[in-house]
Amino acid sequence: MSDLDILLSPYRLNALTVPNRVVMAPMTRSSSPGGIPTAEVAAYYRRRAAHGVGLIITEGAGVRRAAALDDPDVPHFHGEAALAGWKKVVDEVHAAGGRIAPQLWHVGSKRSNGRTERILSAHYESPSGISVSGEHVTQPMSDSDIADTIDAFAQAAADAERLGFDGVELHGGHGYLINQFFLEEFDQRNDQYGGSTLLGRSRFAVEVLNAIMSVVAPGFPVILRLSQ
Ligand SMILES: Cc1cc2nc3c(=O)[nH]c(=O)nc-3n(C[C@H](O)[C@H](O)[C@H](O)COP(=O)(O)O)c2cc1C
Repeated sequence: MSDLDILLSPYRLNALTVPNRVVMAPMTRSSSPGGIPTAEVAAYYRRRAAHGVGLIITEGAGVRRAAALDDPDVPHFHGEAALAGWKKVVDEVHAAGGRIAPQLWHVGSKRSNGRTERILSAHYESPSGISVSGEHVTQPMSDSDIADTIDAFAQAAADAERLGFDGVELHGGHGYLINQFFLEEFDQRNDQYGGSTLLGRSRFAVEVLNAIMSVVAPGFPVILRLSQ
């Protein structure tokens, strides 16, 4: 079998069969005004599936926390209107023969897209209230903030499965919230979510994963994106 044959052969993961091994990386588009994916968004993803992408990981989409996003044109993954928009996306991609998983996102204290003025005017949250430039700018997340954030990720995953998505991806890279918990410079907590070991600082991600696993069907694919 040539490399091309392998690339174009189906891939199976539990109950999911992907028609080939071409996977589209998540890319923020900022094309969903008010956080609602439009018909144009559905058509954009449908075109990728129609032209041979086996598995699409969507642009990052915000979970149900006020501080999850800093850009009003980035899609939400909660609320009736946004979820109705995502339903159109998943149906269009499936109609074109593709598979699709939303990337679930909380930006933590990272100001994306250089749009600093937006995040500065919004409440935001991170493990120890430390900004990307290293200043203590807000309170550390409380236990109830953390519990509600975990719940928000789990709810989004349950909604994704209900809408017919083929899996979910957690954005655990690039200095955003889940990644900030892994990193000593952002996670200076002295409780079970922090400490001097990676084990303690991994607890938040593990609890998000466990919460998701407890609400989705066994075998529903859950991807955790990591970066160094
Ligand atoms: C415009 C743009 C938006 C991106 N948005 C996201 C995103 O929402 N989530 C994410 O995990 N990565 C995002 N990325 C990173 C890409 O998924 C990918 O890792 C990056 O383009 C490097 O590609 P490579 O690994 O093939 O070199 C984005 C990249 C670009 C160029």
